[in-house]
Amino acid sequence: MSFSTHFSHAITRRPAASITAGLRAVDIGTPDLSLMLDHHAAYIATLRETGATVIELPALEAFPDSVFVEDTALCLPEGAVIMRPGAPSRLGEAAEMAPHLRALYGQVVEISGADSFIEGGDILVTEREILVGRSARTNAAGIAELTRLVAPWGHSVREVHTPPGVLHFKTDCSLLDSYTILSTTRLSASGCFGGYRVIPVAEGEEAAANTIRFNDVVLMPAGFPKTRDAILAAGFALREIGNSECAKLDGGMSCLSLRFTPRA
Ligand code: GLY
Repeated sequence: MSFSTHFSHAITRRPAASITAGLRAVDIGTPDLSLMLDHHAAYIATLRETGATVIELPALEAFPDSVFVEDTALCLPEGAVIMRPGAPSRLGEAAEMAPHLRALYGQVVEISGADSFIEGGDILVTEREILVGRSARTNAAGIAELTRLVAPWGHSVREVHTPPGVLHFKTDCSLLDSYTILSTTRLSASGCFGGYRVIPVAEGEEAAANTIRFNDVVLMPAGFPKTRDAILAAGFALREIGNSECAKLDGGMSCLSLRFTPRA
């Protein structure tokens, strides 16, 4: 079973009422908390239907973007790495996550350099390597520190680039199986996915690139029929989840959970 697509656990965090103050690149409207909660519940139910244990953490009003838990940690089978988010308003979210991972993992290490910044949304774990996109939130020092921390666990890191104007590397791509990546053309054109099979996101549906493969199902945002049909045609089981409210904050399927199988 692939450690990059199959998981025993997920952690999510309930959206806070302060989500209306969440970060966004472009203001396309205030998120509706009630609708976001409905979407969040459907997301969690789908994770659970695969047989996984989902740990639901309470809302953190002091951190408007804290529903996007993926940015706080990288979870590997051998241990977890606590991130240092590059957005100042999100830096404290990592310390809020750390005790929950320490309760589940034997080994938890931290990105600690004062000049190191890295967010989980910029990290794509595949069976053979960890790709990390340098971005406005993730810098070279953060990537270098991650590289040193995961080397003893047998993981290699390859630095790549998040396209300009795109929040995170995984805003534009997702792993569908050990060697298949769903990607926007603007990202795959950089050549970063050599050796992988790439399924292109349909033109005009770039917001569909952020999906997650979680056990036997791909969770994708609703409303992108051409990309949905391409994923189905490639033989994947798929579930569409409403994402209209998280999308107003540049958030997607991967941002909403940490997914892992801790090794005791
Ligand atoms: N609103 C998600 C983020 O900017 O981190």
